[in-house]
Amino acid sequence: MNVHAAALAKAYPFDEATSIFADDVIGDLARHPKRLSPKYFYDAAGSELFEQITVLPEYYPTRTELGILRDRGGEIASIIPDGAALVEFGAGATTKVRLLLEHCDFGAYVPVDISGDFLNAQAAALRKDFPALGIYPVAADFTTPFALPEAVASMPKVGFFPGSTLGNFEPQEAGAFLRSARRILGRGAQMIIGVDLEKDERVLYDAYNDAAGVTARFNLNVLVRINRELGGNFDLSAFKHRSIYNRDRHRVEMHLISRKAQTVRILDNTFSFRPGESIHTENSYKYSLERFTTLARSAGWAVRESWTDAARMFSVHALAASG
Ligand code: AVI
Repeated sequence: MNVHAAALAKAYPFDEATSIFADDVIGDLARHPKRLSPKYFYDAAGSELFEQITVLPEYYPTRTELGILRDRGGEIASIIPDGAALVEFGAGATTKVRLLLEHCDFGAYVPVDISGDFLNAQAAALRKDFPALGIYPVAADFTTPFALPEAVASMPKVGFFPGSTLGNFEPQEAGAFLRSARRILGRGAQMIIGVDLEKDERVLYDAYNDAAGVTARFNLNVLVRINRELGGNFDLSAFKHRSIYNRDRHRVEMHLISRKAQTVRILDNTFSFRPGESIHTENSYKYSLERFTTLARSAGWAVRESWTDAARMFSVHALAASG
């Protein structure tokens, strides 16, 4: 805990996670330009809004990745050794992992997520449909090193990281995550990973500016969360959602734009906003097949196979640990 967090903890009796949230928010809003980490989108309301995003007509990634997993399930299965342990980094809806579990003969499933409640609900749902499968949830931050359960020690390991969550990491963080996953899964491991591709800017713009305004609510929800958990006084009507495609940096950026000059209080801090000033809330990097291959290689993985949909909107890769 740093000095600022220690002072906060004294003044406000938060649990550890809320203290870290407070420290991050206060530090990030004091920066120029202001920013907030996208990991704070996912409270219960944010996770529900994200589920709604995944079925929006404009948001192509989820259904396109599902289509690839469905169509190529047999090919994916053919390169996965029988009896392997499937280690999923982050536990979301179970739809994608079910497709792998249905096609392949896994010995165990290890979902890893920071939210224990989410993990337990996910494990319970899967146990019903796959009664013979050993399911060993691990409650951990999957971006930092964690130990795999003893029960899967002797099994071949296959990582699973769908949803292009990799795209929400800065390029150096993406490399660090892939290196860490390589270390956790060990020698001889494989990894199935979903990566969103660069494409027509209009398609990208629409995917993050849906007509029904769900993405806007998802973005603004981080301010709702700050108000609720940290006693902030953000006026939601004084901020608007903006998403743009930054072509030079190959990323969709989400921002919350202040509609006027205003000040906001959070705990003992005051933050001033100019009219039009942005809080940068998310980057969603889009890769070419070549740039992803280079990134994976630099992190100790060889791309064994890559699959895309016919329109080359999204990609799924099978990686093999090199060395
Ligand atoms: C979770 N992640 C891959 C989503 C994305 O597309 O970057 C989050 C998201 N942000 C706005 N819409 C969806």
